[in-house]
Amino acid sequence: MKFFIDTADLEQIKEAHALGILDGVTTNPSLMAKVGIQGSEAVMKHYKDICDIVKTPVSAEVISTDFEGIIEEGKKLAALDEHIVVKVPMIQEGIKAIKWFSDNGIKTNCTLVFSAGQAILAAKAGATYVSPFIGRIDDSNWDGVDLIEQIADIYAMQGFDTQVLAASIRNPLHIVKCAEVGADVCTCPLSSILGLLKHPLTDIGLAKFLEDAKAFA
Ligand code: G3P
Repeated sequence: MKFFIDTADLEQIKEAHALGILDGVTTNPSLMAKVGIQGSEAVMKHYKDICDIVKTPVSAEVISTDFEGIIEEGKKLAALDEHIVVKVPMIQEGIKAIKWFSDNGIKTNCTLVFSAGQAILAAKAGATYVSPFIGRIDDSNWDGVDLIEQIADIYAMQGFDTQVLAASIRNPLHIVKCAEVGADVCTCPLSSILGLLKHPLTDIGLAKFLEDAKAFA
């Protein structure tokens, strides 16, 4: 399973990249706003800065909702850097745009996916990635990980190439569960990635080893 970081915060991206296990970055307008990016020029520069740090796939989201607007925005984003993946919402015009991008060699991430039916449509249109939002599904009293498993099973059975990118990850256990059910990618906040490191027995064991090692000094 690939690890993406779900943030627009350059310091967090650098920290995750330095671990050596980062395979990509996803952003969205809310994450860009959170780090104070304003204006289309600043947005484009920020995407380029992220690409220059990671040199791996970076999802950049369009804000148009009509076919022509999505295509125009997506082409500009894709021209920024070879690593840009155009993130398109799961709407009727979005599906048309994903098919156009796919036919024209531009990678896409179909976002705001909450059902297997939506994921089938995204795959049919040729999306590179599909992003089910598992935390938000959990928030609405359904099981987000179950949806990842269902989509992964359907894609395997039907031979779709679209990668299942588990999004809206809220904790380290989400990452483990997504790995168990066959997600291709997990996009996570830095805190969830670092949360995978933690176990109290590791801390206790290391403290004891370091204490005993004082005898060698
Ligand atoms: O990847 C989608 C993500 O950014 C949404 O996360 O926590 O707002 O549901 P959240």
